[in-house]
Amino acid sequence: MSLKTKHRGMVWGMYVEPDGRRLGVGKLLLNVIVAHAKTEVEDLTLTVASQNEPAINLYRRFGFVEYGLDPRALKVDGVYIDEVLMRLSLELGPKHPTPTSIPVAPDNS
Ligand SMILES: CC(C)(COP(=O)(O)OP(=O)(O)OC[C@H]1O[C@@H](n2cnc3c(N)ncnc32)[C@H](O)[C@@H]1OP(=O)(O)O)[C@@H](O)C(=O)NCCC(=O)NCCS
Repeated sequence: MSLKTKHRGMVWGMYVEPDGRRLGVGKLLLNVIVAHAKTEVEDLTLTVASQNEPAINLYRRFGFVEYGLDPRALKVDGVYIDEVLMRLSLELGPKHPTPTSIPVAPDNS
């Protein structure tokens, strides 16, 4: 991992067996990923095939936003597939620690 990119994490992919879909498993998985990522990095990025509506909807629900399109990123059986680039800005990261209480001097008045 490069020093210059270590503030960023990447969701490489996720998969739920067809029989287990639409039951909230994807949301559970992404909850765990995002919660863990918040302790490690400041941004999460991912790419997803532009026609993958279920996945794009799921990522949008978690606040991922589209910031680009990679045309013809994949070629499957001679068919080109564009990929959507998405990112999620995590408000708290190691560079932005949760504020701790400031010690207060005793009131001697
Ligand atoms: C994308 C995937 C992980 C979603 O998993 P899941 O367990 O079905 O997702 P959930 O049940 O938690 O659904 C979460 C949200 O995703 C969206 N979603 C999921 N399936 C959807 C579908 N078939 N159509 C539209 N939106 C869908 C919805 O916004 C849904 O929220 P809702 O049910 O409240 O409307 C799953 O469909 C999958 O494994 N697909 C194949 C692999 C894949 O495409 N992975 C992503 C590659 S980047």
